[in-house]
Amino acid sequence: MNINGKTRLFAIIGNPVSHSLSPAMHNAAFAELGINAAYVPIKADNIEQTVAGLRTLGFVGASVTVPFKETVMGCLDKIDPTAAKIGAVNTLAFRQTDQEKICICNGYNTDWIGSNSALAQVIDLKGATALVIGAGGAAKAVVFGLLTAGAKVTIANRTQEKAEGLALELGCDSVPFENIATTSADILINTTTVGMAPHSGRSPVASELLPNYQVVMDIVYAPLQTTLLKQAIACGCKVIDGLDMLLYQGVEQFRIWTGVQPPPSVMRKALLKAIDKL
Ligand code: ATR
Repeated sequence: MNINGKTRLFAIIGNPVSHSLSPAMHNAAFAELGINAAYVPIKADNIEQTVAGLRTLGFVGASVTVPFKETVMGCLDKIDPTAAKIGAVNTLAFRQTDQEKICICNGYNTDWIGSNSALAQVIDLKGATALVIGAGGAAKAVVFGLLTAGAKVTIANRTQEKAEGLALELGCDSVPFENIATTSADILINTTTVGMAPHSGRSPVASELLPNYQVVMDIVYAPLQTTLLKQAIACGCKVIDGLDMLLYQGVEQFRIWTGVQPPPSVMRKALLKAIDKL
């Protein structure tokens, strides 16, 4: 990488960020396309000060991760209507105005696009039915994406009131977790942390239920092949691992920042290499 006076700067801001896979993914795309840019992790304590710092230093774009996706919204000049509806921003784009010499910061949400693009590789979402496990921030983006694409969604969560609340907010159904055995759907999506290392032996759904679904997606990517996905493969389901949602939300970020469609295969290869080093 040749860093010089013309290098455009990008960052991921969050806390923690030391294990983020996003630098590998975006820097690989910049290198592949010959774009003079660098993407670095920045551990933030105070989100207002961090965004102000990025503006002052002339950063072009940033990813926003846990725990700032909601609070960052108070630091922006403009929020994309879809991100406002989801109530979370994971992408910042800075624009210097020539005349006034001020920096405008716009916020977007690409998580729902990442989820939809990952699913679209294997299934047509229009008219499909989906059971989403979990009712946190990740579930909100996933459910929003599914509904936007014309799927019919049911949410189940350990804490049922949260599933009911999210279903009411987004306009879909919810079922008590104990009833998922009798809820049929084309797609099953895990948006919880169940199955994540060091508890990788766990799965959010009993294996005998998996033949009920054509497609099983897990947003957990460490390990890449979760117990849920291993069992789904054994049942003949099509599976989507957690790297694909990360990948395609990054593809959309890259497009917002540069106006260029980056190569997903190069980015996925970089993600796989980076995950191996975790
Ligand atoms: P995120 O923003 O990553 O979605 P979150 O908002 O903390 O994180 O949501 C985590 C989700 O995982 C929630 O749906 C949570 O269930 P509760 O609402 O009952 O807390 C779910 N979750 C986390 N640990 C879980 C576990 N051990 N079993 C079942 N669900 C779990």
